[in-house]
Amino acid sequence: MAIEKPINTAVVGCGQWGVKVVSAFARMNALAAVSDADVEQANKIAQDHHVPAMDWPSILEDHSITAVAIVTPAKDHANMIEQAIRAGKHVYVEKPLALSSSDAEAVAALVSRSASTFMVGHILQYHPAFLALKSRVQQGQLGRVRFIRSARFGPGRIRQDEDALWCLAPHDISMILGLTGQQPESVRAHGSSFLRAGIADTVNCRLTFADNLEAEIAVSWAHPYKHRSLVVTGDKGTLVFDDDQPWASKLRYFENTLTWKKGCPTFNQGCSEAISVEEREPLMEQIKHFVECVRTARRPITDVREGLSVINVLEAATNAMRDQTGMPTKSLAQKIPMVDLKVQQRLIKAKLDERIANVLHEGQYVWGREIKELEQKLASYTGCEHVITCSSGTDALLLALLAIGLLPGDAVLVPAFTFVATAEPIVLLGATPIFVDIDPVSLCINPDLIAKGVEAARKAGCRPVGMITVDLFGRPADYTRLHSISSDLGLWLIADGAQSFGASVAGKRVGSLACMTTTSFFPAKPLGGYGDGGAIFTSDAELAAKLRSIHQHGQGDHRYHCVRLGMNSRLDTIQAAILLEKLEVFPKELENRQIVAARYASFLKGIVRTPHPPPPETNVCHAWATYTIRLKNRAALQEHLKSVGIDSIPHYPDPLHKLAPYEKYPTIEGGCPVAEEATSEVLSIPFHPYLDENTQWLVSHAVRQFVASQTC
Ligand SMILES: Cc1ncc(COP(=O)(O)O)c(C=O)c1O
Repeated sequence: MAIEKPINTAVVGCGQWGVKVVSAFARMNALAAVSDADVEQANKIAQDHHVPAMDWPSILEDHSITAVAIVTPAKDHANMIEQAIRAGKHVYVEKPLALSSSDAEAVAALVSRSASTFMVGHILQYHPAFLALKSRVQQGQLGRVRFIRSARFGPGRIRQDEDALWCLAPHDISMILGLTGQQPESVRAHGSSFLRAGIADTVNCRLTFADNLEAEIAVSWAHPYKHRSLVVTGDKGTLVFDDDQPWASKLRYFENTLTWKKGCPTFNQGCSEAISVEEREPLMEQIKHFVECVRTARRPITDVREGLSVINVLEAATNAMRDQTGMPTKSLAQKIPMVDLKVQQRLIKAKLDERIANVLHEGQYVWGREIKELEQKLASYTGCEHVITCSSGTDALLLALLAIGLLPGDAVLVPAFTFVATAEPIVLLGATPIFVDIDPVSLCINPDLIAKGVEAARKAGCRPVGMITVDLFGRPADYTRLHSISSDLGLWLIADGAQSFGASVAGKRVGSLACMTTTSFFPAKPLGGYGDGGAIFTSDAELAAKLRSIHQHGQGDHRYHCVRLGMNSRLDTIQAAILLEKLEVFPKELENRQIVAARYASFLKGIVRTPHPPPPETNVCHAWATYTIRLKNRAALQEHLKSVGIDSIPHYPDPLHKLAPYEKYPTIEGGCPVAEEATSEVLSIPFHPYLDENTQWLVSHAVRQFVASQTC
């Protein structure tokens, strides 16, 4: 008796479907190993089947493993097939074979040059009911086939790599091509995205073959229950394969009931018959076929050519769908603003109304009790001892500089890439800003260049006294290094945290990271009011006392006792009342900001330069005031986004030293090329803590569309 060649298969991918494939190979005594990116899951399945769990490189290297079954996400198929074929393995791959015709063609070329067996998991080609249907069609029971209609509906997991067409229709296309034995002459398709913008979840596709044979495929994830049917109509009758029926009635034959009387079509009650089909598990049949093909070196029914034909139809349908639907722009009936806080307002409206009504009732529009309450709550949130609220983030900086005693002839180092407000108060006080280049990753002031800033100040004949750091876009500057450098150089450090309220470093929040920190409550800021506002944070009691005095005309012991030069810069009571309610929801919003930023990062990965999040080991929490991407042709992208109703803002289009009022002030030697490049590329896209995934998808899709149009 001939001894059967052992087929040792490693099943790669132990997800929902993967475990079924694993069992099928095990039942065929052809399972040698399992593998999954989720090592715990792989170990569990391996234990259940008494085989080892292995990683992909080890599987490829292991000569005792003769075949692989690839049950991973479709985006990985083409690569994995190539590696497996080059390693001399037989390959079974789940549908779709690849995600493009070009990938499928490359696979086909490789397979045709190899001695390996290759099979695509178009499972319905192995379904006993389909095989019975196919045999009857081939025997001519229907006469000439005129029309085929295939439907595959059911609530589905919405994928990002594939739409419903690529996920569901390979089965239908495979069956239809199996019945017709030819490629369609034309393909039309229409897709709709009801569940999530940008991904077609419902697709209707029409294939036209030679001899006026038409086939229609309808697939959808937007359906409450599973429905899978194939209807083949010929001159003599119709065969219906309804996979949702019990085995006794999965396949039915309907005699043709259409007759023509005096030129009019008439339907008659025709007879129908259920065709009995032997109950056999399609997956088992399919795996059995693969194992037999490997053993006998036969070509599988669903071999690489069959797989390629299916991909060609899928790609033609995708192209047709793109030309006809214009899905993303259609769903953009509404403009997408940079910041939309309507959801926030809905959440806290009742409490806001109550707070505002209270202020109106008490009539303390200036110095109302809400000011003190807010200052206390801000102090306890940030972990600093004193908070002095004021009229804006710009005033906060001016007050801080007045308190620290900035004089004409002094020089203050500032990053060249920031909002003008960082440098403005320095100039207003007659001192000199020195522009320092930024770090290319964090975009904050580069600690390595501080010494050069001091040199530039001295060269300009000024006394270098301090620096103002900026936590650009909400990411804290490198305070650890900046503190030690500034103290070595005898500079004070003021943190401009206008964009970074809520951010933290090693658990210490912005507000407690410098001897004085300023922030802004401008509406679009992480903690924004319904108007202008700002605050200064310090744990230095002397500075705090000075700040309190300066922001109310240099007041001494009482209102009309003036002890120093000051200004009027108070926060309105009504703004404090609003901010108190906003502070309540702020921690949750900060969490949401992380989620929204991570979502953009995944949607835009590889398309444009996305912001670098702080590495986890630095223990830095980003406040994500904006989500600011980078690309070379920023102006054209902004135009494109505008044309589809999406707002965007270049934050900021010029480095400070290139703006008229600041041109005359020095930069460090060598200038600030990193800041210059960044300002020519940055573009902030809509971002706020309540931005939903759908809207982010639309924005990202528009960016992707633009980038693709540029590379075509
Ligand atoms: C970095 C930076 N500093 C200061 C400010 C000034 O804040 P405000 O607008 O509240 O005066 C802003 C505001 O945009 C800013 O982004």
